[in-house]
Amino acid sequence: MSERSAAATSRPAFQPGTRNPYLPMPARVIEAITETPTIKTFRVILQDETLMREFSFEPGQVGQLSLFGAGESTFVINSPPTRMDYLQFSVMRAGENTTALHSVRAGDIIGVRGPLGNCFPYEKMKGKDIVFVGGGIGMAPLRTLLLFMLDNRKDYGKISLLYGARSPQDMAFSAELPEWLSRSDLDCVLTIDREAEGWPHKVGLIPNVLLEMNPSPENTVAVTCGPPIMIKFTLQALEKLQFAPEQIVTTLEKRMKCGIGICGRCNIGEKYVCVDGPVFTLAELKDMPNEL
Ligand SMILES: Cc1cc2nc3c(=O)[nH]c(=O)nc-3n(C[C@H](O)[C@H](O)[C@H](O)COP(=O)(O)OP(=O)(O)OC[C@H]3O[C@@H](n4cnc5c(N)ncnc54)[C@H](O)[C@@H]3O)c2cc1C
Ligand code: FES
Repeated sequence: MSERSAAATSRPAFQPGTRNPYLPMPARVIEAITETPTIKTFRVILQDETLMREFSFEPGQVGQLSLFGAGESTFVINSPPTRMDYLQFSVMRAGENTTALHSVRAGDIIGVRGPLGNCFPYEKMKGKDIVFVGGGIGMAPLRTLLLFMLDNRKDYGKISLLYGARSPQDMAFSAELPEWLSRSDLDCVLTIDREAEGWPHKVGLIPNVLLEMNPSPENTVAVTCGPPIMIKFTLQALEKLQFAPEQIVTTLEKRMKCGIGICGRCNIGEKYVCVDGPVFTLAELKDMPNEL
C-alpha cells in the first residue's frame, strides 16, 4: 500500500479513462446499527461486485454518502482496509442528509463516492508508540487506524486509547469496547464527562484525563479527533506533555462538496481539505491561516 503524505499537494481530480468521480456508486446497506441516540452505523457493500472487489483505500480516507432527494455528505470509512467484507460508516445526526440517512434500513440502497482525501501517515508511525485520543463521533476515524494497527500489531509499539463521551449512552462502538478493554496489547481508557450510576471507568473531561495518563512523548505519535472544543484543549494538553507539533496528527471536519479539489468549498488558505487533508499534523495546521 502506498502512503500519501499528509502534506501532499492537490492531485488532478480526473484521470482520463477512470470512473467519473462525481458519480455515486449504488451500495446496499447490509446492517444498520443504532450506536447512541444520535449516531447510527451503516455497513454497506457496493452493488457492483467488481467495484467492491477493487475498492481500495487507506486509513483516514473518507466517502461521500448520498440519498436521493436528501443530499450528500462526508463520512470517514471507519472499517479498516484490512477487513473488506463491507465498508462501515458511522453517521451522527446533524442536519438534512444525516437525518434522512438515519431512516435507512438493512436492504436499502444509498450512494457512495470515494475513497477521497489523504490518509493517516501510518507508514511513518511504524515502530512508534501511538496515543489515540477520541471524543464522541471523533472516534470514527480513530477506529479505522486503531483496527488497522491491531491487524498489523507487530509494526507498532505500545498503543493507548483514550475515548470519551458525554455519558455512557453517548459512547459509540459500545459492542467493541469490552474487547478493547480486555486486550493485553491495547491500553484502553474510557471516560465520561459527569458521574453516572454503574459507570466503572473514568469520569472527567478528555484533556484532564489525558494529563493524568501522562503519556511519554518519546518516540510517540498522538492521533486525535473530536469536537472542536475538545480538540482545542487536547492539543494544549499534548503540548503541555511536551509533544512536538510534528508528533500530533488530527483530522479536520471542514465542510466539503465535490470532495475532489474542484469546487473550492473546503479550502484553508492554499490547502484543500478534501485533497490535501483531512489528515494534518499540528505542525502543518500551524502553518495554515486560522480559518477553521
Ligand atoms: C473529512 C470529514 C469526515 C467526516 N466524518 C464524519 C463521520 O465519520 N461521521 C459523522 O457523523 N460526521 C462526519 N463528518 C461531518 C459530516 O460530514 C456532517 O455532519 C454532515 O455533512 C452534515 O450533513 P447534513 O446534511 O445532515 O447537515 P447540514 O444540514 O448540511 O448541516 C447541519 C448542521 O451541521 C453543520 N455541519 C455540516 N457539515 C459539517 C461539517 N463538515 N463539519 C461541521 N459541521 C458541519 C452545519 O453547519 C449545520 O449547523 C465528517 C466531515 C468531514 C469533512
Ligand atoms: S470539496 Fe470541493 S474543493 Fe474540496
